Amino acid sequence: MKLSTKLIHGGIEPDPSTGAIMTPIFQTSTYVQEAPGKNKGYEYARSQNPTRKVLEEALAISENGKYGLAFSSGVAATDAVIKLLAPGDEVIAGNDMYGGTYRLFSKVFQKFGIKFHYVDMFDTNNITKVINDRTRLLWVETPTNPLMNIVDIEAVSKIAQQKKIIVCVDNTFASPYLQNPLDLGADILMHSATKYIGGHSDVIHGCLMMNDKELREQLYFIQKSCGAVPGPQDCFLVLRGLKTLHLRMERHCENGEKVAHFLRNHKKVGKVYWCGFEDHHGYEIAKKQMRGFGGMMSFTLRDDSVEQAMQLLSSTKLFALAESLGGVESLINHPATMTHASIPREERIKNGLTDSLIRLSVGVEDIGDLIDDLNQALG
Ligand SMILES: Cc1ncc(COP(=O)(O)O)c(C=O)c1O
Repeated sequence: MKLSTKLIHGGIEPDPSTGAIMTPIFQTSTYVQEAPGKNKGYEYARSQNPTRKVLEEALAISENGKYGLAFSSGVAATDAVIKLLAPGDEVIAGNDMYGGTYRLFSKVFQKFGIKFHYVDMFDTNNITKVINDRTRLLWVETPTNPLMNIVDIEAVSKIAQQKKIIVCVDNTFASPYLQNPLDLGADILMHSATKYIGGHSDVIHGCLMMNDKELREQLYFIQKSCGAVPGPQDCFLVLRGLKTLHLRMERHCENGEKVAHFLRNHKKVGKVYWCGFEDHHGYEIAKKQMRGFGGMMSFTLRDDSVEQAMQLLSSTKLFALAESLGGVESLINHPATMTHASIPREERIKNGLTDSLIRLSVGVEDIGDLIDDLNQALG
């Protein structure tokens, strides 16, 4: 099956008890057993739920993976991956990534004795330089949030395979429509399904996909033992979102390209970060590993002052000022005070995330209306 067919049909059968074409929401906490240990494969809903099971299968298929595991948020899915590790283990992560991931690593797990190195992963030499006997995991986000840097998943996976290091890719920005990291050699991939997969800004959800059975067993053990599982209603919403991912992504890509070029040609705009520009330093890698460039971008103003940025952030009418991304509606965001506020300022600035940076999640509205909105806000 091709991707668009897989997104609609993958892992989904009509409900065997009624024929319902839509997967039912099994709103139950437990399951009646015939005798102790004699059941229909479901014992307690933290461990198994039929709605979640269908979603996990559909998510795995969307990424050409064998196994999927659903979590109550993207951060909960990331948390499960780090719990594969033990004190003394080391992780190499990108120096430009979602602020909440950085917060989880540096404020929660570091104190349990896990060491994190943050490097610019575009140059893979920066990774090999810090690999040592204790390195267990490479955490790769590509394209990165918010600076749209690109990491070569295949090259990084090759380095890791030689040293038996796990590679986990945060594929949130690309979605399964644009990039499939398992096909490029990654061991695990993670999505904040809150974003493009859910697609309608109405659910918080995360997932992991993988091919290795042993890894799946370890992560399933963490999922049921730590308990950050999504409710069945949320699983239903994510399943519904998945079915239109390809249609939405097509429009996100079309609109994203037009907005990126509009910004680049506007006299009041400074630098535009979008990985579809041929002169973007990661363009060739992006072209190789992605099927399009998406609707995420960030930019600065020519008058690179925080005041001007703040003025713009409160002047758009269609682009709503809000955290999050990947929904049908366009959003505008100020990473320094919103999504990336948990990263210390010096750290942010050192890695190019300035106080005046503005991030856009370009939605699927009419492109003329979106450009008119940005035009009037830029003045
Ligand atoms: C790239 C990326 N990864 C992970 C997350 C965390 O996901 P969630 O908010 O669903 O916990 C986010 C949230 O913004 C994100 O942008």
